[in-house]
Amino acid sequence: MHTVRIPKVIQFGENALSEAEYPKNALVVTTAPPALSGKWLDRMGIQDYMLYDKVKPEPSIDDVNSLVAEYKGKNPSALIGLGGGSSMDVVKYATAEFGVEKILIPTTFGTGAEMTTYCVLKFDGKKKLLGPEERFLADRAIVDSYFMDGTPEQIIKNSVCDACAQATEGYDSKLGNDLTKTLCKQAFDVLYDAIMNDKPENYPYGSMLSGMGFGNCSTTLGHALSYVFSNEGVAHGYSLSSCTTVAHKHNNSIFYEKFKEENEVKGSC
Ligand SMILES: [Fe+2]
Repeated sequence: MHTVRIPKVIQFGENALSEAEYPKNALVVTTAPPALSGKWLDRMGIQDYMLYDKVKPEPSIDDVNSLVAEYKGKNPSALIGLGGGSSMDVVKYATAEFGVEKILIPTTFGTGAEMTTYCVLKFDGKKKLLGPEERFLADRAIVDSYFMDGTPEQIIKNSVCDACAQATEGYDSKLGNDLTKTLCKQAFDVLYDAIMNDKPENYPYGSMLSGMGFGNCSTTLGHALSYVFSNEGVAHGYSLSSCTTVAHKHNNSIFYEKFKEENEVKGSC
């Protein structure tokens, strides 16, 4: 038997953010400053919400505990993680305390974290990858390329690199199955087409598919090698551009040539 877990509802594509409906009295959790989150909230058209914007980048269990202490008595109807991995990780962990629906809205792309049963938090100053656990899975994920506007090019390149590496390594994962292979293959096809034909608006969709695929199996040699560099402060995507290429060559991956090609076209991550 194979088991694949993905969010109950996935809303994606152009205008997903503004066309989705949001429950009243939801608690929106973000790391973004008011000037930015205000713009996003306007675009969502959300009404009657509470906003918690004190989440720090690379959050710890203390951030989760502060959120729970401040809002548990206010009975939010849902928790909405609006932002990059940090906001989503805090919501992934905290929601169980509230017993409500969790909605994840990534404003960055690449990791596909909105699709997965994993959560990264610091405990005693050390980053821990928790999961896979069903409690970390979104009830609803909303993926919109709207957030790419204004993202620096270098960050976009690194993020695409991560998504491509995760999709292709996931395809090769021994923990995978027919469905994860289908998702990973489609993710890479979407990303490759977006890179080769200059359709950056498709990056978040490709990255979402990558998260659905690799999130139900694993990354493999490329990511394992890349941590040597990431741990020294080299950007995750940049490390992968060479590590995953070498790993694909070593493993005779079906993606080796195309992975190398898209790396060359978009320029080094
Ligand atoms: Fe990654």
